[in-house]
Amino acid sequence: MDDRFNTIAGWALFSGIVALGLSSISGRYFEADKNPRPEKMGHTIEGVVSSDAGAAAVEPIAVRLAKADPAKGAQVFKKCGSCHVDAQGGANGIGPNLYHVVGEAVGQGAGGYAFSDAIKTIGGTWDFAKLDTWLTSPKAMANGTKMTFAGLEDPMDRANVIAYLNSQGSNLPLPKPSAAAPAAGASAAASDAAVAPSAAPMGAAK
Ligand code: HEC
Repeated sequence: MDDRFNTIAGWALFSGIVALGLSSISGRYFEADKNPRPEKMGHTIEGVVSSDAGAAAVEPIAVRLAKADPAKGAQVFKKCGSCHVDAQGGANGIGPNLYHVVGEAVGQGAGGYAFSDAIKTIGGTWDFAKLDTWLTSPKAMANGTKMTFAGLEDPMDRANVIAYLNSQGSNLPLPKPSAAAPAAGASAAASDAAVAPSAAPMGAAK
């Protein structure tokens, strides 16, 4: 009788230990799932600009250009000066001469500069919005570009330097802020007529 009790108690103890061991092992295995976070958080709600996105809070280029100062842009251009000259007929440096670049075909220039294939994939002409996207991050716009410049983080720096570049031979009329906003909305309206975005996201500049 005593023996049998001991045997039963022994098995009970043993199975308890096994159960404990299993739970700690499984805990180890599934630890990675303890804080499940989806790769993409929540739903994207059309037309809502999230405040933490940073880029979404940037004013459209037309709005920034309206208050841009070419003289300040000339100061910003010093950051470009190690690679670019902007004087008419000036030589190409590490980067192409930038005289009259605003409104010009992307990746062509006048001075026979050897552009990368990457920049040529952008296509079209350097309008204000394209330059804004380019100067935010050349690499993001044309992965593989020879322009190894990280970009201008400050949206007003970009607007100022674009206004300055425009004053160097191009002198194109600046886009009207009031006209630019509906234009940005119009393309979004095509995909979702019911919701008007309150601000054009960065991507809309492309
Ligand atoms: C480290 C050198 C370097 C710096 C600094 C630099 N760039 Fe460039 N940039 C280049 C190179 C190289 C290219 C050619 C890119 C290619 O072919 O992929 C280029 C291309 C460009 C183009 C396209 C020209 C065209 O005709 O298509 C523009 C516009 C431009 N840069 C503007 C600027 C501005 C504005 C700044 C300063 C805010 C700047 N870059 C700073 C090296 C530089």
